[in-house]
Amino acid sequence: MSLSDIGRLRQSAIYIRGLAGERPRVPTQPEALEQRARAVMTKRGFAYVAGGAGAEMTMRANRDAFARRQLVPRILRNVERRELSIQLFGRTLPAPLLLAPVGVLEMAHPDADLAVARAAAALGVPMIFSSQASVAMETCAGAMGQSPRWFQLYWSRMDALMESFVTRAERCGCEAIVLTVDTMTLGWRPRDLDLGSLPFLSGKGIAQYTSDPVFRAAVADALEQPPGTAAAVTPASILALVGAARRYPGGMLRALRTGDARRAVQHFFALFSRPSLEWNDLARLRALTRLPILLKGIVHPDDAARAVDTGMNGVIVSNHGGRQVDDSIATLDALPAVVAAVRGRIPVLFDSGIRTGADSLLAIALGADAVCIGRPYVYGLAIAGEQGARDVIENIVAELDLSMGLIGCRSVAEVRTAEVRSVTAPS
Ligand code: FNR
Repeated sequence: MSLSDIGRLRQSAIYIRGLAGERPRVPTQPEALEQRARAVMTKRGFAYVAGGAGAEMTMRANRDAFARRQLVPRILRNVERRELSIQLFGRTLPAPLLLAPVGVLEMAHPDADLAVARAAAALGVPMIFSSQASVAMETCAGAMGQSPRWFQLYWSRMDALMESFVTRAERCGCEAIVLTVDTMTLGWRPRDLDLGSLPFLSGKGIAQYTSDPVFRAAVADALEQPPGTAAAVTPASILALVGAARRYPGGMLRALRTGDARRAVQHFFALFSRPSLEWNDLARLRALTRLPILLKGIVHPDDAARAVDTGMNGVIVSNHGGRQVDDSIATLDALPAVVAAVRGRIPVLFDSGIRTGADSLLAIALGADAVCIGRPYVYGLAIAGEQGARDVIENIVAELDLSMGLIGCRSVAEVRTAEVRSVTAPS
């Protein structure tokens, strides 16, 4: 789908509906969007999505970094026709924007990943399926037609499972593999900790695993409970078990009778991450697939340069939205050095802190080839399901389109040459 002139069209549609007294159900203001989502989400759901690591300094740093950089608009450059599309890995994308992989979307809305897949496909914006999705990748892909999708991989302790995920991603038409390298283990997240809430324990966000033949065979074979994973039997733990069984393919009763649901959760925890992963391991993934591979979670230029040397096809400058390491560098501050180290050899994507179209322009002006939207689309999903996610994406692209023209650029390539000013303190 072409998104040309989306800015003016969307803006006038909203104002015209406003004449009839209608207000957007999904707010266009980022803070109002978050607050509206908070009002409709469960406490645990909102904590999971909105929260970050530690004292959430990294989350704030991500936003502060945007406040310290400013676009310098140029005028009188005939910006009547603007082109938002870009080329990425041989595909024309309608805008320099993708949907970041976000796990456990059922915490936001029961339609979860499927609603987001439909919203993404309606606009032709790529969705990156999460390893921690609430809906199996095949189901989402089936709802997307020819629209682009990628797969985000957590490299589990079990190679056969990692390989199975990659094979399934290829089969269901994913066009790139995003290996997330900043989550060797889950970060310290006080909002979840203080609620004693980890969605995976109730079987949420493990649909890619419970739908996987390799994982299911391992669960069926397992007789023993891995040490340290048993919870005391309480009404809450029974509820969690029933929840996990309800989500298990093949039916709740069967999952309860066989113990598969409980074992699946235990297995997931035993296998989820592989902290021993190192650069040498990447050769195995490289040999496994011809799809482009991107490393997500890069903030150091040396790591970016090494990703190029290791045959990776792209990097995503990301700190996981400040969910992993507190007191760490803001991604916008990390971006210029990564771009310099990569020297145009592979695409550099960017996320963590993008809330608006103008934010996207800043990241592109600092050298990003495209940006990934995270929390904002999840808030839209929480507020109004598929339509809500779609509204958020359209709003961000609409502002991107208008502001691109307003700074005097007609294309994303021109944005990459736009002037950015740095200021020392947030203004
Ligand atoms: C994430 N992110 C993430 N990343 C990933 O590689 N795999 C995943 O499963 C998840 N899951 C996830 C859940 C939730 C609730 C959030 C908010 C984020 C990180 C995501 O891809 C992206 O890096 C951040 O969302 C970017 O930060 P902002 O812009 O959303 O603040």
